Amino acid sequence: MKFFIDTANLDQIKEAQDLGILDGVTTNPSLMAKEGITGKQNILDHYKKICNIVDGDVSAEVIATDYKGMVNEGKELSSLHKQIVVKVPMIKEGIKATRYFSNNGIRTNVTLVFSAGQALLAAKAGANYVSPFIGRLDDISTDGLGLISEIRLIYDNYGFTTEILAASIRHTMHIIDCSKIGADVITAPLKSILGLLKHPLTDIGLENFLKDYKKGN
Ligand code: E4P
Repeated sequence: MKFFIDTANLDQIKEAQDLGILDGVTTNPSLMAKEGITGKQNILDHYKKICNIVDGDVSAEVIATDYKGMVNEGKELSSLHKQIVVKVPMIKEGIKATRYFSNNGIRTNVTLVFSAGQALLAAKAGANYVSPFIGRLDDISTDGLGLISEIRLIYDNYGFTTEILAASIRHTMHIIDCSKIGADVITAPLKSILGLLKHPLTDIGLENFLKDYKKGN
């Protein structure tokens, strides 16, 4: 299972990379804006900075919503760095662009996926990753994890190689549940990843070990 961090914050990306468990980064226009990164050139420069920190895939989202615009933008983004994966919205023009990218050796992540049908289309178009947004589904009383299970079943039925990238993760239990279902990748905020570390018995156990060690020294 791959671990991606879902942020454009360079300090958090470095912290996750230093942990030695990071396989990639996902960003989106909102995450860029949150870090105060605005304007095309600044955004492109920021992608390069992220690629220089991590070893794995870095998703960079297109802004265009028409086929031609997406293709041009995707080509520009992918030429920035070999680690860039072009993030394409799950719309009709996006599926056409995904097919173009797939035919031309440009890797893609189809984003804003909220149904099994959308995930099926993304796989048919040759997407490398599909991003179902589980937290946003949970937010509207719909079973986000259930969607991951459905996509897993469909992809396994036909041997689709598109990787299921569980996105919009809100907490540590989402990560654990996704790993049980068999999501290929999770992308999560640093806080949710670090939450996996925590157990009070670990802290108490360590405290006691250190106390006992000191007794004999
Ligand atoms: C990542 O690819 C998505 O853009 C992100 O996980 C969305 O998360 P949110 O629902 O917390 O904004």
